[in-house]
Amino acid sequence: MCGIVGVVGTRNATDVLIQGLQKLEYRGYDSAGIFVTDETRTETLIKAVGRIAKLQEKIGIEVNGSTGIGHTRWATHGVASEDNAHPHVSETGRYVLVHNGVIENFKELKEEYLVADTFVGQTDTEIAVHLIGEMAKTSATTQEAFAKALKLIQGSFAFAMVDREEPGTLYVAKNKSPLLIGLGEGYNLVGSDAMAMIRETKNFVEIHDNEMVIVKKESVEIFDASGAKIEREHYVAELDLSDIGKGTYPYYMLKEIDEQPSVIRRIIQKYVVDGEYQVEQGIIDAVTEADRIYIVAAGTSYHAGYASKEFFEKMTETPVELCLSSEFGYNIPLLSKKPLFIYISQSGETADSRQVLVKTSALGHKSLTITNGPGSTLSREADFTLLLNAGPEIAVASTKAYTAQIAVMAVLAKAVGAANGYEAAKEFDLEHELALVATSMVATLDDKEKIANIVEGLLTGTRNAFYIGRGADYFVAMEGSLKLKEISYIQCEGFAAGELKHGTIALIEEGTPVQAIISGANTASHTRGNIMEVESRGAKVITIVAADCAVPTDDIIVPTVHKYLTSLAMVIPTQLIAYYATLQRGLDIDKPRNLAKSVTVE
Ligand code: M6R
Repeated sequence: MCGIVGVVGTRNATDVLIQGLQKLEYRGYDSAGIFVTDETRTETLIKAVGRIAKLQEKIGIEVNGSTGIGHTRWATHGVASEDNAHPHVSETGRYVLVHNGVIENFKELKEEYLVADTFVGQTDTEIAVHLIGEMAKTSATTQEAFAKALKLIQGSFAFAMVDREEPGTLYVAKNKSPLLIGLGEGYNLVGSDAMAMIRETKNFVEIHDNEMVIVKKESVEIFDASGAKIEREHYVAELDLSDIGKGTYPYYMLKEIDEQPSVIRRIIQKYVVDGEYQVEQGIIDAVTEADRIYIVAAGTSYHAGYASKEFFEKMTETPVELCLSSEFGYNIPLLSKKPLFIYISQSGETADSRQVLVKTSALGHKSLTITNGPGSTLSREADFTLLLNAGPEIAVASTKAYTAQIAVMAVLAKAVGAANGYEAAKEFDLEHELALVATSMVATLDDKEKIANIVEGLLTGTRNAFYIGRGADYFVAMEGSLKLKEISYIQCEGFAAGELKHGTIALIEEGTPVQAIISGANTASHTRGNIMEVESRGAKVITIVAADCAVPTDDIIVPTVHKYLTSLAMVIPTQLIAYYATLQRGLDIDKPRNLAKSVTVE
């Protein structure tokens, strides 16, 4: 994953890099580093293991400069150490490079071109910068050396590089990994996303795969793979600096959980105007013409796909199949004659999903991306995009993006069903039902202290736990379980309640926490039966039940919403359970170990 940022021009480079890296920390946070220089070639290269704060502690106030590159790392090749932290330096010492991505042929490059070189760490990045140094031996310019190396490197990369002999220039390139140029007055920037640069500018230029960019304080020149110059218009980002602050919240995750009712209302406002669904005709036609929908996604977005399957099939009268993006290549489903691929991805940058998109596009299949990332890779490369409009999601654990994904899928299903006069869509007043969802969410959120109290003691010391549910509740169980394990490190399984007795019930012992979800009368009696089975084996059960099928002894009662949309309401307690369990265990809620927000490696 990793995050990179660079600046050249009239700004204090150190300050810009640190501010940018703090915004990119969600992409990886096991080590970080910066390189800064200026016209007089007063240079500093500093690295630290751990968070950006550790790096900051090592940087003295005298370190500034006008050109710089910075990096926050999520280890792929080699442990988190200063030797492996970026920036990396070429054998000759001339080039300094930061990199996000994975170079697949690094071993071959090393064996073919760099046998005599000495390396300080184990990263693929070090091979890349040594290779550029090697190419410079037979090149007239750095640009030529950089271009030659780019032709040899296979895999994913976003590079920002400084030639120490030319301190007013950044050499930039990308393939598969995200990278944007930010335009300032008297300075220009480069970063893994717009948030890293939003304090400095709202004007951005996209870089496409296999392009190289030369960034100076007054100019940005883009070249395609053949070396031809390209003109590209900039765009203005709608992001606001206040969107990416925590405000008075102790953690982004809690802020983002609390934002969900307003995100649902925003989705209604954006997508329903005077009762008309604002979905472009091309998308409606693509869904209507498809004989089968394949939803491709990972993690929470995959769970959002499952939560959407039933209403999508009913309202569009089209079968829906779910595909885990990282598995697609190994378990390729027998494709229908006219498939439509829907890529659900909060970031729009997930490499696993992107590699499927590349394959399905090559086969000529239409694609739609549902994302929170306008201008993201999946958005740019798919035929169509629907935006979540959820606002930036910073906490690694995805919350508001999940509910926004389901809501936007519902908008799409309703728009298609309404356009075709399908019965299930006609009967379903989505605008009204989503408003009820927002109200239900508010009620649950208002009662969060109760959830904090229920969690206390039960999950604070446990090593494992279960979520169980049937039907739509099974999908919420999967999501609730992912949320709990990724931030609290409690080993948790989301299980189909009826499947427990086929083996997994063997794991239930005295005190094992089991959260049972019941959102409808059709599953209530059977799931309650499963609750009794686990309780009689010692489990401590928390029941999360929709109001219309609750009994007074239930623990968490959620105001009932339409059966198509139960996941949107029932997931809120599971998010809060994960949050409070983690808080009580004293862990870093927003930045859990080993994870990153944007998973840009396969
Ligand atoms: O950006 P994406 O939605 O494509 O990301 C997919 C998963 O990496 C993501 O949902 C992950 O599972 C979250 N950390 C879960 O909270």
